[in-house]
Amino acid sequence: MQLPAQQVAVLEAASADEAESVDALAAATDLPPETVTGAVFELEEVGLVAVAERVDETIALTDEGVEYADEQLPEVRLYEAALEAGGDSDPVQMGRVIGASGLEGPQVDIALSNYARKGYGVIDSGEITADPDADPSADAEANALETLSGADDAAVESVDVDADTLEELERRGLLERTESTVREVTLTERAVTELMAGLETAETVGQVTPELLTSGEWEDVEFAEYNVEADAETFEGGNVHVLRQMSERVKDVLVGMGFQEMDGPHADADFWINDCLFMPQDHPARTHWDRFALEQPSHIDELPEDLVERVERAHREGIGEDSEGYHSPWDEDFARALALRGHTTSLSTRYLSGEEIGEIEPPARYFSVEKAYRNDTLDATHLLEFYQIEGWVMAEDLSVRDLMGTFEEFYAQFGIEDIQFKPHYNPYTEPSFELFGTHPTTGELIEIGNSGIFREEMLDPLGVECDVMAWGLALERLAMLTTGAEDIRDLHGTLADLEFLRNAEVTY
Ligand code: PHE
Repeated sequence: MQLPAQQVAVLEAASADEAESVDALAAATDLPPETVTGAVFELEEVGLVAVAERVDETIALTDEGVEYADEQLPEVRLYEAALEAGGDSDPVQMGRVIGASGLEGPQVDIALSNYARKGYGVIDSGEITADPDADPSADAEANALETLSGADDAAVESVDVDADTLEELERRGLLERTESTVREVTLTERAVTELMAGLETAETVGQVTPELLTSGEWEDVEFAEYNVEADAETFEGGNVHVLRQMSERVKDVLVGMGFQEMDGPHADADFWINDCLFMPQDHPARTHWDRFALEQPSHIDELPEDLVERVERAHREGIGEDSEGYHSPWDEDFARALALRGHTTSLSTRYLSGEEIGEIEPPARYFSVEKAYRNDTLDATHLLEFYQIEGWVMAEDLSVRDLMGTFEEFYAQFGIEDIQFKPHYNPYTEPSFELFGTHPTTGELIEIGNSGIFREEMLDPLGVECDVMAWGLALERLAMLTTGAEDIRDLHGTLADLEFLRNAEVTY
């Protein structure tokens, strides 16, 4: 009998009395397990082997699980610190106990959310108690972590931990289950007969090559059959990042709505970032609040002198009869200081002033999808750098309805039909409002943007005579609405969830 080489190798390695796993056969034949699986399927089809399948479930601790196995669960550390502080007799101040426990960052929340559930004590109005009868050495989760640490990829049946505890650990992300199909192979009687009679190796070809085609050899060779059921190696190829996909899509939508793209410096003078926006120089955002200052170089070389003069006058005296200005100090050196832009509205001031591409005639529409930088505290909805979808429309007689209509049209392109508006304040717009969208899985309202109609005090010095409505929307927040991500840090930064980025579906 003639068979392809891999099948012959598998038959010779398998046995009639003992079932051998595909992995064992792969080791014995020195073939990759996928190849062995393919050969086994074909041999099964012609009745030369019998295959038994079973699904094995193995479990292993995640990195976080290993960490707690080494250093105790956060709630146990909190309990011990609370006992130490005398929480078994009187409630003690929570801040003190957390400080003494050494718990930091997300571990504090983890400890708090498991503390009462496990009966370690009560947390109420900033105070914590420790139940003297609680016993951390009887903590089922802690004991399970200890049992499981070191037992990597253990079969579920082999570990001495009850199913509820395993489930709880899995829910907390401390444990992962993996299912795999194990196939075991035995030779059939027919195979034994064939082996005794002697097997020959048939040359089969796995791939059509240009050489086979041009030489005409393809007519004589035997092709290996495809087996679409054989397990293949997992292939994790490159993928366009979720945010990149979003940003491309946003640009397409805005271009489709008649907008042109703006471009400009990430590090810019405060003049363009703030002063041109009628932001007073003593505004908290401009002193310490959330600014990344540049040290080297620290100041911009050039600013258009006549514009500087007009902006200064607007700040000091206001524009027109009804406007007062700030009557506050205004210092050109302060305006020349360089910083990473805290919003991309600096691009809008540069374009509106005529500085970038000359004077712009109405009607005009411009946008950018670019990075902005803020010294915020990192959390589920804030990053230190993020993308803003900046935009503005210049035309005669614009109203709030035009602005709302533009957002409705824009967000509808992403399947978001329920945006909500809330009145707001910006020094540079009047009226102003913030935009909110509903998170598709948590149902929470999240802020997705800020907008308004630019004030006279801003537009007049820039030399703009008609109305301009404008906005800054958050690309990451839009991505949270379209992908269902619940934490912005899953999308980018050092904590990004690779699994999520590989598989997330961007819906629009
Ligand atoms: N610059 C504002 C922000 O970062 C957004 C905005 C731009 C608001 C233009 C109104 C007009 O929040």
